[in-house]
Amino acid sequence: MDSQALSRDSRIERVLIPERRIRERIEELAAEIAADYRDRESLHIVGVLTGAFVFLADLARALRRAGAPPARYYFLQAGLYGNSVKTAADEALPSTVRIGPAAGESGELAGRDVLLVEDILDRGLTLSRVCRHLTEEQGVREIRICVLLDKILTAPPPEIAALRRALPVKYVGFSAPDRWVAGYGLDAAGLLRDLPCIVALRESAFR
Ligand code: IMP
Ligand code: MG
Repeated sequence: MDSQALSRDSRIERVLIPERRIRERIEELAAEIAADYRDRESLHIVGVLTGAFVFLADLARALRRAGAPPARYYFLQAGLYGNSVKTAADEALPSTVRIGPAAGESGELAGRDVLLVEDILDRGLTLSRVCRHLTEEQGVREIRICVLLDKILTAPPPEIAALRRALPVKYVGFSAPDRWVAGYGLDAAGLLRDLPCIVALRESAFR
C-alpha cells in the first residue's frame, strides 16, 4: 500500500506490520497448523466476527496450500460493550462480551476439536467468553486458539493476567504493542478494517 497515502491520514501514526510481512507470517502459521493437525481427518475452524474475517480468509487458503486436512468453517459474533478505542487507562474497566449468532448451532461442533481464530488477544475477555460458549453451550471437546496479534500489556491487573494465561493460545502471528492498532480486519471506531497492513493509531484522533 502507498505509504505516502497512509502518512497523509491524520488518524494513522505509523505502519506497524507491512502487508508483505503479514502474508509471509500467514504461510508460516498455516504450515505449523497443517503439521500439527496432519493426522486428523478434518479441521473445524471457528472465526470470531467481525475482526477475524480478513485474517481467516487468507489463513484458510494458506492452510489449503499447506496441505492441511479438509476444513469446515464456522463463525460467531463476539463484541465488547464499551468504548470504540481503548487506551491503557481503560485496562481495569469491566467489559461485557456479547455473543451473537453462534457457530454450529445445530450441534455440529459437539465433541469436536476446534481451532478458534481471532484477530487480536488484548485483555482476553472476548476469547474467554467465546471459549466458555463453545465448551459449555456447544459441547466442544478441545480448543486451540490462533490469533494474528497478541497485545503485550504493560501493566495488566492480576485478574487480566490470569485470564490471558488460562487461554489455550497455540498460534500467534505477531506481538503488538499496548496501544490501539487497526487494519487487516481490525477496526478503529468501526473503520480501517480494509487496510492491507496493520497500523498504530493516533488515539487523539478518536477522542
Ligand atoms: P479483549 O477481549 O480485551 O482481549 O479484546 C479483544 C477484542 O477487542 C478483539 O476481538 C478485538 O476486536 C478488539 N480489540 C482489542 N484491541 C484492539 C485493537 O487494538 N484494535 C482493534 N480491535 C481491538
Ligand atoms: Mg473482536
